Amino acid sequence: MIRPILIHPDPRLKKICDPVTGISAEMGKLAEDMLETMYDAPGIGLAAPQIGVTKRLIVLDCVKTEGEAPRPLVMFNPEITWASEELSTYDEGCLSIPDQYAEVDRPAEVRVRWIGLDGKGYEEQFAGLWATCVQHEIDHLNGKLFIDYLGPLKRQMITRKMEKLKRERARQH
Ligand code: NI
Repeated sequence: MIRPILIHPDPRLKKICDPVTGISAEMGKLAEDMLETMYDAPGIGLAAPQIGVTKRLIVLDCVKTEGEAPRPLVMFNPEITWASEELSTYDEGCLSIPDQYAEVDRPAEVRVRWIGLDGKGYEEQFAGLWATCVQHEIDHLNGKLFIDYLGPLKRQMITRKMEKLKRERARQH
């Protein structure tokens, strides 16, 4: 089921999310809905708070090459266990901040530990777009958006645009 994606500013996007204590059928369904919502958007990552659920759950699939098999990843309670000193810059966007992009510097490589859909623990090192995306999504679980890395003027400008977009959308419904 495709779920509506919250648009910034929204208090649910600013919350520190709660750890997931058990991978119930309900959590499995939530992860499935999030993947469906992400692919439909389309996007390469989605965090539970973006659909109004303040739990530590993210999904991502950064395979962008045409013809390459998709690699949907579901991460419960993801944690960064190591980050490279080397940084990389990526022109980031966010499904909760439509059509706005800005360059953000982040560690170029990270190791992430998480619990999978099967309840097992995983740890993997990510580089390139995967590293950027997984850090962006984990930020969402801590109430942080990519615009929080920008200067106050740029952030305010984007927030005003989003407030206007939300007013326009509310009028259409
Ligand atoms: Ni985002």
